[in-house]
Amino acid sequence: MPNNFSVSNQVSEKVAQAKMSAIKEMAMLSSKIEGAASLAWGLPSFRTPEYIRNAVIVQLDQDIEIGKYALPDGLRELRKLVARKHSIETGIEVNADENVLITAGNMQGLNTLFHTIVNPSDEIILTDPCFASHIQQIKLSGGKPVYWPLDEKHNWRLDLERLPDLINEKTKAIVIVSPSNPTGKIFSKSELLHISEIAMQRGLLILLDDPYCHFTYENREKYFNLASDKKAFDHIVYFFTFSKSYAMSGWRLGYMILPAQLKKEALKVHDSTMICTPRISQVAGIAALTGTPEHLVTFEKILAKRRALICQRLDAVAHVFEYVKPEGAYYVFPKIVADHRNSYDFSLQLPNSAKVTVTPGNAFGPSGEGHVRMAYCVSEDIINLAFDRIEKYFGK
Ligand SMILES: Cc1ncc(COP(=O)(O)O)c(C=O)c1O
Repeated sequence: MPNNFSVSNQVSEKVAQAKMSAIKEMAMLSSKIEGAASLAWGLPSFRTPEYIRNAVIVQLDQDIEIGKYALPDGLRELRKLVARKHSIETGIEVNADENVLITAGNMQGLNTLFHTIVNPSDEIILTDPCFASHIQQIKLSGGKPVYWPLDEKHNWRLDLERLPDLINEKTKAIVIVSPSNPTGKIFSKSELLHISEIAMQRGLLILLDDPYCHFTYENREKYFNLASDKKAFDHIVYFFTFSKSYAMSGWRLGYMILPAQLKKEALKVHDSTMICTPRISQVAGIAALTGTPEHLVTFEKILAKRRALICQRLDAVAHVFEYVKPEGAYYVFPKIVADHRNSYDFSLQLPNSAKVTVTPGNAFGPSGEGHVRMAYCVSEDIINLAFDRIEKYFGK
């Protein structure tokens, strides 16, 4: 028998065709370049707040269960705190047992949901640009991402007129991130309510991935949590992560709020892939929601300063980048106006020529071509270093 074993023959077509997220690809590239100034990864520079760390230290010593599995949908104490938080934030009462599922962050939450709802070639609508990993997650779950181009001329506004034409009998859901990654756009209340009307009429789910609700700067009034639309409750799955607001990205902790029947189904996927979210992270989550999150004000103030700085530095290189001031989150998504072939080549060349890493815009969907994403959650020193080098390479 010929032995024609090769790893590439073993890999499924779905995985062979999938891509590593360009965000992580650039972050990995950056780690190999000595002294690179990285604006590639949305990894906040902040440390997990002290009140959370201290509570975990105590629990690690005293809680004899802490090293054990938790029930698949999460510790009841945390689910109850989450239900209370959700009702304060949205005015919607949810049941800790029926509607709350504790996840290992929004990536795992969204992935679980896609696997729960997608039949082969089912369609999921993504704003374009969108968060890069959603594209891969949908493909890996056997579905097809359908791009809904945002209106770049109007600061990446939603183009509501185009939405009905994208919906057909294969459409299962629409994913919304506001404040948006990568554009920093905050969609308006009326736009979001319009989407929920359409979702109700057409029998679709809205997946609200909400990592950046606490980073809205002077636009707090504009932020609207669509999960507070009571009549659309059965059509909405809300995802919150502790990664950004609580500087807990490495703990891998989040939650979803979803209709009871859907939770039962999603739990099958969550249980068979995760068993449960790490218990120690859930204990940290209990501490996070029991204490007073004074750090939120500090985080937002620091990020606002960094946003002002990056905008000022972008203004000074208008011959390289044209940009729109981001309304929220901590990304800016400038258009490349300097000579370039495409955003990928531009981003691959920048580390070699200027020792700066950014993420190519085409990773965020077709409309992202010609742009790069810069994350300004890094220190002011790194932002300054990156732009000093950009100015040196491209000239002032
Ligand atoms: C829109 C969006 N969803 C999900 C994530 C990942 O969140 P988590 O750390 O909770 O998996 C990010 C992180 O950058 C994000 O921007």
